[in-house]
Amino acid sequence: MEDIIENQARFTHMAQGTPEDWQIIAGAFGPFAQQLPDRILAHLQLLQGDCGGFPVDRLTHCLQTATLAYRDGKDEEYVVCALLHDIGDTLGSYNHADVAAVLLEPFVSEENHWMVKHHAIFQGYYFFQYLGMDRNLREQFRDHPCYGRTLEFVERYDAPAFDAGGEVLPLAFFEPMLRRVFAQPRKSLYQQAVDP
Ligand SMILES: [Fe+2]
Ligand SMILES: [Fe+2]
Repeated sequence: MEDIIENQARFTHMAQGTPEDWQIIAGAFGPFAQQLPDRILAHLQLLQGDCGGFPVDRLTHCLQTATLAYRDGKDEEYVVCALLHDIGDTLGSYNHADVAAVLLEPFVSEENHWMVKHHAIFQGYYFFQYLGMDRNLREQFRDHPCYGRTLEFVERYDAPAFDAGGEVLPLAFFEPMLRRVFAQPRKSLYQQAVDP
């Protein structure tokens, strides 16, 4: 069993890790992290064909939200936030907005992160009353500096993006933007290691 695999660390408990082990792991991190946009794109495509009762499927909704923001002149980072805002629908059935926010957090402004994280509560204004909930749940954030930004997001881009007859730019159109936004993290636990 002394068949050493060159590109893998050898510890069984992390406490046994050596500088050589961590050189191997750190060396593998860069190429893997660079492929993050590919994994995001692949995951977005999982939303295709999944309507969940809505008038359009979840990918179409995400693309239309991004299309509306783009056509309205929003900047690239904002458009990418719009594109990904519901990417958590597959894994975060009970907290989808948090999933998107966590993915975007290292790469976007605090304002855009807050907007994505809270969009579900703000969006609830349009339907919480039909589910026995308080449609004004968002009012708890009335004095928050990102209240207006998030209100605008749901009103102008998220809520209207269920129009099967409306414009939907393809994922390929947004791909270069996504790659640019995800090129370099602004903040990360591993910042020092990534950016020595
Ligand atoms: Fe959402
Ligand atoms: Fe949405």
